[in-house]
Amino acid sequence: MAGSIPLFAGHPAHDLLPIADFQAIVDAAWSKPDVVRLFNYGDEQGDARLIGFLARRLLEAEGLRVGRENLMIIGGATWGVNMLTQQLTAPDDVILVDSPSYRDALHIFRDQELEIRSVPIDSGGINIAALTETVHALVEAGKTPKFYYVVPNFQNPTGITLSRERRLAIIKLSRRFGFSIIEDDVYRDIRFVGELPASLYALAKGKNVFRLGTFSKTLAPGLRVGWLVADSEWIERFVGSGLLKMGGGANPFTAAVVADYCLSGRWEGHVAWLRDQYQRRCEVALAALRETMPDSVRWTRPRGGYFIWLTLPPNAHVDDLELAAKQERVYFASGKGFFVNPADGKRHLRISFSYVPLDDMRRGIGTLGELIKRLSR
Ligand SMILES: Cc1ncc(COP(=O)(O)O)c(C=O)c1O
Repeated sequence: MAGSIPLFAGHPAHDLLPIADFQAIVDAAWSKPDVVRLFNYGDEQGDARLIGFLARRLLEAEGLRVGRENLMIIGGATWGVNMLTQQLTAPDDVILVDSPSYRDALHIFRDQELEIRSVPIDSGGINIAALTETVHALVEAGKTPKFYYVVPNFQNPTGITLSRERRLAIIKLSRRFGFSIIEDDVYRDIRFVGELPASLYALAKGKNVFRLGTFSKTLAPGLRVGWLVADSEWIERFVGSGLLKMGGGANPFTAAVVADYCLSGRWEGHVAWLRDQYQRRCEVALAALRETMPDSVRWTRPRGGYFIWLTLPPNAHVDDLELAAKQERVYFASGKGFFVNPADGKRHLRISFSYVPLDDMRRGIGTLGELIKRLSR
């Protein structure tokens, strides 16, 4: 799409991918004595060296002590959400999500024909009073939810982080009413400033929380390598599932190369460099918004992740903006895709600062500012 500005694209810019470093690691893999093993089906739980690395890193980075029996390698967080949905629910079951929530997870929940209930969020994450009320009403109707799906850190699409108090309140509620929590924690390492609250998994001491991580945001999405942290009984059950029995563990070749990369010590340095790069990108996007948006537009100020969420003035509609922006070859993610009821997103849009070059980002945001001024006149 030469000349176009894809502000919707939620993946790393080309110059943020560690291609040369990775090439060296892949080249070295060919001369290893066990290279043949990497061309075979893998251990169901996934690459043991990578599991060991991840367990050590959780301890070092977060003080979180997990055993190997609490971890498995998966083919990206998406694969994990799909597997968990298959394993934990049957069609027509009820689940809970944020409003707005991650669009592509909603697709998976719809594939499984689940009844999706959404609960509003604000700058601290989900509204606990509304969540409590929703859960009560569901339980009374004999429809106890199976799980609550949440992106707790630098949420996709809003960039918002769930507060510690609310994490604790959610865990309390989940214990009282017996639903699980899927913690889709793919942006944890893309943190610009400050500290993050402990994960729901850590706060719940591992009980009934399924925590997903990925190398898509800190290495490359094309690798399709992520991990799941959960109670050992659940890991055992997933490892014994038909999916893994039939195909073996996720992506053995790539997972082994990712393990080599991480064990070489390169990953930590790369992540530190990425944080600076994304922070700079985010600052440029926020400055462009300040300079070009009319006063009636609101937006979030994320402290990490990839996304900024915009709220349009009451008399503007995102469909009109989308159409007008398309004429200028500027593309964003319409808010409508992130809501269970798409109409709730008619005054919202998500822009990503992870992908487009800085000049395009300034130009694209400037164009959106001009168009919003024109459309809300
Ligand atoms: C919240 C969230 N979960 C999962 C993913 C996808 O992760 P993976 O590439 O590991 O499947 C994304 C990517 O945009 C995301 O934003």
